[in-house]
Amino acid sequence: MTRAEEIAGNLARVRERIARAARAAGRAPEAVRLLAVSKKMPADDVRAALAAGQRAFGENYAQELRDKSAVLAGEPSPPEWHFIGPLQSNKVKYVAGKAALVHSIDSPALLDAFEARAVAQPCLVQVNVAGEASKKGIAPADLPALLDRFAALKHLRCEGLMLIPPRGDARPHFAALRALRDREAQTTRANVDLRELSMGMTEDLEVAVEEGATIVRVGTAIFGARPT
Ligand SMILES: Cc1ncc(COP(=O)(O)O)c(C=O)c1O
Repeated sequence: MTRAEEIAGNLARVRERIARAARAAGRAPEAVRLLAVSKKMPADDVRAALAAGQRAFGENYAQELRDKSAVLAGEPSPPEWHFIGPLQSNKVKYVAGKAALVHSIDSPALLDAFEARAVAQPCLVQVNVAGEASKKGIAPADLPALLDRFAALKHLRCEGLMLIPPRGDARPHFAALRALRDREAQTTRANVDLRELSMGMTEDLEVAVEEGATIVRVGTAIFGARPT
């Protein structure tokens, strides 16, 4: 089996997992988008996934997104890139305007750094639902004020929330993100439409779909273990 065949087979299995979980939860399989996390994987792996019909790819490192998107820009149907990693303000220039969606906005400073680039940028706010000191993401208590800030911006739009849960049972964290979204969606804010919930990875994508994920971010089940 070639590497391309391996990736195509893995993608088919992941799509089937998503579809089965969606149907079991009474949701349409098309209501959940698959983001293939290509972090640390070569451009040829992305090409193989593109050939197997995958469109959206997630990257964690700003320069890697810049470099891979440049290499693959000439493909007949280039990838839709998403940025899903922690980001320092000085690296925003590599991402702004290149990512179809930035999943990891987690502070007013990062919001302002994107706005300063003056390019349209859809994004999600990453929430640290469990309050883990080691994890990125805004505290739930600070979320309303961060969402309020979007009203004053010209270029950024908030399309939803993102979560990386702690190790262990992710379900309560997924449910908490959804509850936060449902609560905040009751407030009308300019430039904010909380329709996306980005949650669920290789280990727990079924649970995330059951709890309302609209985007699952899957790396290992598609590309295998990442190089360290
Ligand atoms: C933010 C984020 N989402 C999703 C993934 C994919 O995780 P997995 O390989 O377990 O599917 C990663 C991997 O590093 C990640 O950093």
